[in-house]
Amino acid sequence: MRSQPAPEAPTTLLDELISDVCAGLAGPGQKRLPSRYLYDDLGTALFEAIGYLPEYGVTRADERILRCNAREIIQAMGPQPLTVAELGSGGGRKTRWLLEAMGTRRSISYYPIDISKAALERCALELGRLPVVRVEPIEADYRDGLSLIASRRRADERLLLLFLGSTIGNFEPPEAREFLREVRGRLRPGDGFLLGTDLVKPAATLIAAYDDALGVTAAFDLNLLRRLNRDLDAEFDLENFYHEARWNAEERRVEMHLVARMAHVVWIHAIGLGVTFRAGESIWTESSYKFDSDEPERISKVLPFTPAGQWLDREWPFAESLLIAR
Ligand code: AVI
Repeated sequence: MRSQPAPEAPTTLLDELISDVCAGLAGPGQKRLPSRYLYDDLGTALFEAIGYLPEYGVTRADERILRCNAREIIQAMGPQPLTVAELGSGGGRKTRWLLEAMGTRRSISYYPIDISKAALERCALELGRLPVVRVEPIEADYRDGLSLIASRRRADERLLLLFLGSTIGNFEPPEAREFLREVRGRLRPGDGFLLGTDLVKPAATLIAAYDDALGVTAAFDLNLLRRLNRDLDAEFDLENFYHEARWNAEERRVEMHLVARMAHVVWIHAIGLGVTFRAGESIWTESSYKFDSDEPERISKVLPFTPAGQWLDREWPFAESLLIAR
């Protein structure tokens, strides 16, 4: 039996992957893997392609709102100078509208935080060309990124922290609550938190958005098995699984599943694990929760935030909400 993992991922990430795979695939219940493993280099590129699909309106709605309302959003932050930081910036395409709206009179520090080096490089290239913007990329996860910002930001500037694209929807509700508490803990009174949330829409629209006709989302999902083959020396045959999107109306989430076409066993050599699948059994790979437009109100009832504005897209129901730390 082969027992060496491919040497690609740094040890700590690999250890985490191994522990998540053991926890998620070894037991008898619903098989699950955390959605963050969808984003290796190929997965990140496929997610970017998803943003161009006619069925998936999230990315375009997010960008439209920022393009049309950037000035108003910046004004809602008040007259004091701003530092901007963004959690999960990706290539930073949407953020340019906000940075441009801040004017050219003084220099602006922009801290994109992302675990993808490639995304940060694109972001620095795209936004570094703006005349007064100093891009200071932070290659880190959200938690470490937030603590770095807290230590590096200028004391005399308010912070505008961006969390766009409805990424909050990929957290399970308890995790989302904990994450928001942590974010608030890192902000000072007067700082802003701009949160993008995808709103509930008809089931058929959502299913099409997460199972598009071209099969890009299916490739994005199935690529997770390819990643396990590469990083953990696993033997998933991608032909033996298909991608399925399910709308769970009660929980208000779209679930992505990889469903086994037949009963079989898959070996993951790096950890000496044989994973047994029944025909029709699935690995649950992502949840994408959908929200009401009053979500910021709810957040501000449990955390010291004041809702300071909300901007909606009509074409694809989506909300950008500004919360100011009290
Ligand atoms: C990144 N995240 C907000 C996307 C979403 O809509 O939940 C990820 C995605 N999964 C499938 N398509 C897009």
